[in-house]
Amino acid sequence: MPKSTLKIDFGSGYNPKSGYKTCDITNAPFLDFAYDGEKIIGCKKNSVDEFYLRNVIHHIPNLKEVFLMFHFYLKRNGKIKIIDVRKEYYKQNVILDIIWYRYVIPRNEIWFSPIYRDYFEILKMIGFTLVEQYYEDEKEVTIWKK
Ligand SMILES: C[S@@+](CC[C@H](N)C(=O)[O-])C[C@H]1O[C@@H](n2cnc3c(N)ncnc32)[C@H](O)[C@@H]1O
Repeated sequence: MPKSTLKIDFGSGYNPKSGYKTCDITNAPFLDFAYDGEKIIGCKKNSVDEFYLRNVIHHIPNLKEVFLMFHFYLKRNGKIKIIDVRKEYYKQNVILDIIWYRYVIPRNEIWFSPIYRDYFEILKMIGFTLVEQYYEDEKEVTIWKK
């Protein structure tokens, strides 16, 4: 029997990536998986091929715990793909997040880091290996392997 592939768009919001299962910190009924702040409900150890995070890293306060959680759920050689604001554009993104999440669509429960955080060190410390890194305009794209 062919092995099944499981790719999860973590922090998928209302704009999920095609071909990926949705997952968010909210438990909206349209989501495939819900993240309760500690675990992904219903997700099994060593079952995930890829976690994809677009514009989500800067909303995660506890990066180390979340990366450890990904390590637990990922298959051997499983991947994390991260697309997030690069350091040079971080300050202007904070201003946009303040305007958007505090004034335009007030969602005070959505946290964002006021400063740029070097998440590379945390991923490496946990045992992930960087396999690809490039820029797309103001975003940095990185791919990590377990
Ligand atoms: C800027 S939106 C990005 C949505 C989608 N990934 C996209 O690219 O359009 C940030 C998303 O992160 C989610 N989020 C916020 N805090 C989170 C957390 N601590 N853990 C996981 N997801 C979180 C939000 O609910 C929201 O869906």
